[in-house]
Amino acid sequence: MLSTLLLAWYDIHGRVLPFRGTKDPYRIWLSEIMLQQTRTETVGAYYVRFLERFPDVFSLAAAPEQDVLKCWEGMGYYSRARNLHRAAKQVAGQYNGSFPADLDALRALPGVGDYTAAAVASIAFDLPAPAMDGNLTRVLSRFHGVREDVGMPSVKRRLLELAQADMPQTRCGDFNQALMDLGATVCTPGTPDCADCPLRPLCDAYQAGDADALPIKAAAKPPLELSMAVALVTCGDKVWMIQRKEALLKNLWVYLLTETAEKNADIEKALKSAGIRAAFQDTLGTARHVFTHRVWNMTLYHYLAEIPACREGRFVTLLEMRALPLPTAMRAAKEQAERLLEK
Ligand code: ADE
Repeated sequence: MLSTLLLAWYDIHGRVLPFRGTKDPYRIWLSEIMLQQTRTETVGAYYVRFLERFPDVFSLAAAPEQDVLKCWEGMGYYSRARNLHRAAKQVAGQYNGSFPADLDALRALPGVGDYTAAAVASIAFDLPAPAMDGNLTRVLSRFHGVREDVGMPSVKRRLLELAQADMPQTRCGDFNQALMDLGATVCTPGTPDCADCPLRPLCDAYQAGDADALPIKAAAKPPLELSMAVALVTCGDKVWMIQRKEALLKNLWVYLLTETAEKNADIEKALKSAGIRAAFQDTLGTARHVFTHRVWNMTLYHYLAEIPACREGRFVTLLEMRALPLPTAMRAAKEQAERLLEK
């Protein structure tokens, strides 16, 4: 049986990870949210630091959102942090701080989808819910020889049913995590290491010799390339910053951003509407940041304001700037701002 071979392998080869070895649903939930879009190796340090700052769901629920975003700074996909904070408030308020041991109740929390609900339910509460991430999809499509586009809802349903049938009676969390580890270390994308795979004797794709061609996926649409201008508007020891209202990077702090590559009317218009009189100084270079669905190709400019006053946003000192949550997309601009303000 798949689970017998898999769990025996996991007991020897399972990865030692900072977020393993706990049954605390808060910790498991936190790690699974972090792991949604961030690499396992990167999550470790963030996870440890986050728990030092917010050791339990009450401390997280009580914190200002800006503190949560600051702790998340650099990991990207900040809606995860905003939803994490909202969910913490719900668990602290509605559930007296105890996460519900129920798949539907978990799924009802902000930021918790099918995958995360199943991961938490199985790892924290040993409930038999397959956590269908990219790893499980790949391993199980190979193992069961699913040779259809795994992006199709009907194929997803079939894989979920197969995973459900493969799920053991106990050690449900270990079963999910063993599939994740196998997918990350042996049954990897591209050319898998079938020679070292415990599932090889029962694997359909191995028998057929097409493991490297699975899973079948429709080609992803390339992200949209955008030309942006970033203006550092300084005045003495301060730089102008704005808190984003747009869905992308919402509530994080950025410099003046416009969707044109040229120093032009858009920057002047934004300055005017914020009540800032500033003069162009210099072009500082370029930077590129790749999001999931778009790419920002940024040109950086320096403007000098007459007085550090504005109707929108804030003029902040270097120290204040460092205390605000800034997205990684602003890294090059932040370095330039540091340089300008340190002068
Ligand atoms: N990726 C997401 N969750 C994981 C987990 N619990 N173990 C290993 N990799 C993961």
